[in-house]
Amino acid sequence: MPTLATTVDGLKLPNPFVIGSGPPGTNANVIGKAFDEDWGAVICKTVSLDASKVVNVQPRYARLRSRVSDEVYGWENIELISDRPFDVWLDEFKQIKDKYPERILIASIMEEYNEGAWQEIVGRCEEVGVDSFELNMSCPHGLPERRMGAAMGENPEILEEVCGWVMKVAKKPVWAKMTPNVTHIEDPARASLRAGCHGIAAINTIRSVMGVDLKTLRPEPSVEGYTTPGGYSCQAVKPIALRMVMEVAQMIKKEFPGRTISGIGGVETGADAAEFILLGSDTVQVCTGVMKEGYRIVAKMKEDLLAFMEQHKFETLADFKGHSLQFFTTHADLVRRQAEARAAKQAAHKQKAITADNQWDGEDFVKQTDALARG
Ligand SMILES: Cc1cc2nc3c(=O)[nH]c(=O)nc-3n(C[C@H](O)[C@H](O)[C@H](O)COP(=O)(O)O)c2cc1C
Repeated sequence: MPTLATTVDGLKLPNPFVIGSGPPGTNANVIGKAFDEDWGAVICKTVSLDASKVVNVQPRYARLRSRVSDEVYGWENIELISDRPFDVWLDEFKQIKDKYPERILIASIMEEYNEGAWQEIVGRCEEVGVDSFELNMSCPHGLPERRMGAAMGENPEILEEVCGWVMKVAKKPVWAKMTPNVTHIEDPARASLRAGCHGIAAINTIRSVMGVDLKTLRPEPSVEGYTTPGGYSCQAVKPIALRMVMEVAQMIKKEFPGRTISGIGGVETGADAAEFILLGSDTVQVCTGVMKEGYRIVAKMKEDLLAFMEQHKFETLADFKGHSLQFFTTHADLVRRQAEARAAKQAAHKQKAITADNQWDGEDFVKQTDALARG
């Protein structure tokens, strides 16, 4: 019987399904619900020292639906990080760890470009018992105006410096969460790992505009008739997330063996998770999927991932982590491989061609006849 249990950066998880930072980890109540439903770990909604500067608007989500089935497959949000006071969060972290001491609670943190602030937030979260950190260097809306989030994540030099500040004081494992709004995700990922981060989480949301209402001519989501570009998530982003995870995994394999990846972006099923793991993820995170379907989806995800493992006779996640990376190559190499395969096929065909009557065989009789018809 295969097992989903895994140890990542020293953290013992019953399964690789992690609640991604966002509404599904927004207070102690919902984090408890996630543990009760057996999620492998929870990353809280991103917290900062001074929540008074965080002011959200409504509506802050816009959804893209299939033209044929009404199913939601794309999701834009213009939600900021948590608007809840840091002291309240510290109390809740403590309550959660008291109630679920064996469960992994990961604090998603974000601060301005200020060494003292980053080190203070790490120290105070560690005091109340969080198990590890995810550095949110990636929120695409609202916060870049305060030089936070994606403003840091898009600049490898700043990223390396900020990750370095955190790594000077952190006693717990640290993952740096990447923005996908860059040309080469390896660059910020490499910078974070060079600074000493244990792992990379990829991806945050993709900068987007959901659409324009053709009656009002106003872009969506419309707040008093206006909008601002937001972050795109859900099923539609999975191919982009998989590509970026693959690129980070190839880089880690060559330059930082042993560092870890938490894959995120459109994961809704056990099959999605299997794909992320085949491309090098140690864990997978789910955010929008929980907002669409609720915390219980994890039961089916676990069941389906186990069924996949049984089908391929994999006993542990390590048995297939990164397995499919070997099948990526350049386009020029695809052309070469195809030319070789075609030449081999033609040679085989020729071998079957009859030049004397004693060469007819029962196995390939029809093919041999065909070859003689074509000349
Ligand atoms: C409504 C909403 C709020 C989010 N808030 C945060 C956040 O506070 N911090 C963060 O690091 N990521 C945040 N995210 C990004 C998700 O954690 C995740 O990276 C992204 O949505 C892609 O995964 P998904 O398709 O499973 O949602 C948010 C996403 C959504 C949809």
